[in-house]
Amino acid sequence: MNSTQPIGIFDSGIGGLTVTKVIKEILPNESIIYFGDTAHLPYGGKSTAAIQAYSARIADYLLNQSCKVILIACNSASAAAYDLVRKLIGKKAMVFDVINPTIDYISENSCNQKIGLIGTQQTINSGVYAEKISALNRNIDFVALATPLLVPMIEEGIYEDRISRDIIKRYLSDQSLETINALILGCTHYPIIKKQIGAYFSEVGREVEIIDSAETTAKALRSHLEYHHLLAKRKSRVDEFKVSDHTSSFERITNIFFGEEVHLAQVPIWETLR
Ligand code: DGL
Repeated sequence: MNSTQPIGIFDSGIGGLTVTKVIKEILPNESIIYFGDTAHLPYGGKSTAAIQAYSARIADYLLNQSCKVILIACNSASAAAYDLVRKLIGKKAMVFDVINPTIDYISENSCNQKIGLIGTQQTINSGVYAEKISALNRNIDFVALATPLLVPMIEEGIYEDRISRDIIKRYLSDQSLETINALILGCTHYPIIKKQIGAYFSEVGREVEIIDSAETTAKALRSHLEYHHLLAKRKSRVDEFKVSDHTSSFERITNIFFGEEVHLAQVPIWETLR
């Protein structure tokens, strides 16, 4: 591995661009190869076996593109396939996910708290966050709530109006989240509605820390690259954004997640099968 190699990032679709955006802000010299598995999206309602199969192929594809890091920028895929991808990649690249950096952040910053998690059905049902938080032994009371309407809502561009406010309120006023001190945004789409989530808690007069896995992940990645002397000194190539199924509407919504519209190049699905 050397510092000039690109960072490979993948997600079920476009949501992982929220993580990519923060990475580009704090690691401007790195070159990125992003892969959105739009042919198989959404992952949130898929089985663990299906997500593992897709993730293994994509990780292999990114490895063949000479990536020094393979970052699973999707909570659903992180929950289902992180261990598998690590096993498959071995020492050929560094494998990162979006769950472990958040767990490390909680380990360093939280004790005797009640922490809530919102995410897709796959992420919540996997129980991965619950297991890892319990293993910290920090006397943390943990609650998790699947919020499946939020991904299609955001992808439809509905995230700053009355409809989205009502849907967010409906989920966040769930009894299980009533006394939380912190809320983990357990889906890479959710940074888009972070402001509205914060506004909801302010409105009801509650102080709740919002833990954004895009930020915890980007910071953890920077520390790791620094520690292993793998930080790029200058940009070695232009960033590439690839998808397994190209449509113009995917391209249009990159703006929501990345802050600018990016060109998405179609990679034939069979290329990820080699
Ligand atoms: N970005 C995915 C995640 O973080 C959610 C979208 C999907 O269901 O594919 O879980």
